[in-house]
Amino acid sequence: MASENQKDWMASGSDLMRRAMQNRRLIPDVPHLKPIIDALPAGAVVCEVGCGPGGITLDIAQQYPELTVLGMDIDDESIKLARDAAEKAGTKNVRYAQGDACNLDKLVEVEGFEALDGGCDLVYSHAAIMHTNNQLAAISHMRHASKAHGTISLHEGDMGLFFAYPENPGVKRWLETFPVLGLSKGADPYLGRKLVSLVLAAGYAHGQIKGVSMAAQMQWRPQVKPGLVMGFGQIIKTSELEEEDKKLIVEGLEEWSKCEDSIVSFPGVIVTAVKEA
Ligand SMILES: C[S@@+](CC[C@H](N)C(=O)[O-])C[C@H]1O[C@@H](n2cnc3c(N)ncnc32)[C@H](O)[C@@H]1O
Repeated sequence: MASENQKDWMASGSDLMRRAMQNRRLIPDVPHLKPIIDALPAGAVVCEVGCGPGGITLDIAQQYPELTVLGMDIDDESIKLARDAAEKAGTKNVRYAQGDACNLDKLVEVEGFEALDGGCDLVYSHAAIMHTNNQLAAISHMRHASKAHGTISLHEGDMGLFFAYPENPGVKRWLETFPVLGLSKGADPYLGRKLVSLVLAAGYAHGQIKGVSMAAQMQWRPQVKPGLVMGFGQIIKTSELEEEDKKLIVEGLEEWSKCEDSIVSFPGVIVTAVKEA
């Protein structure tokens, strides 16, 4: 199980966060995976590590009925939501299991997850490994789950280019404290820059790293801002920050969200590696 600490920093700490994650899709959230998935043969196995409530996995399963899609996450509630959504949609080629990415091999014993023993064509993460307490173990397990010539793809955040505009004192405080809060909760908000190093440490040779790129989601549409403010407001309100800081940040975010020209960045790094036989 995720510790309560890990759960409440951008992971799966609330129904609000889970609902937001259930709306994620292959496009626009992980477009870098599309060419990899398009090239997979029928019968290939794709696994998302830290799939949350399964928005992306269900979308892939529905768009590629000839593939088997596996999703795993440490949060039982997210797995329940993912299973319910797949059942409701009548999608049969997706399976979910609760487990820890740092002990991914334990899931090999779960029915339908045998491919995690070196049989997956694509194993990917999206904003999940940063929340685990042993990133190297998680990436090493992803490598083990991948078959020879299989791909691992990691898209993890790096708050180094976290900015918002226009700034006010509350937004400024949010930008300063939010990554620090993540660190204090056991997450690594600066994981993106370390991915190449970790992928090498996990056993990939330099030549097996096929791509390293920056990715940044920009939020600027008026319709998403109230949800963002509510989600971040909730994380801030339940944090250990001083009451004065909480008030300043929540009010600052509300003021920011009402500006027609306001934007915020959610930066990350994408690393793709292929295991050679
Ligand atoms: C920000 S969410 C991303 C969910 C999903 N990948 C997506 O993009 O919609 C991070 C997810 O990582 C999961 N997580 C955190 N630590 C984990 C671990 N040790 N093993 C598996 N999943 C974990 C959380 O429960 C959460 O669902």
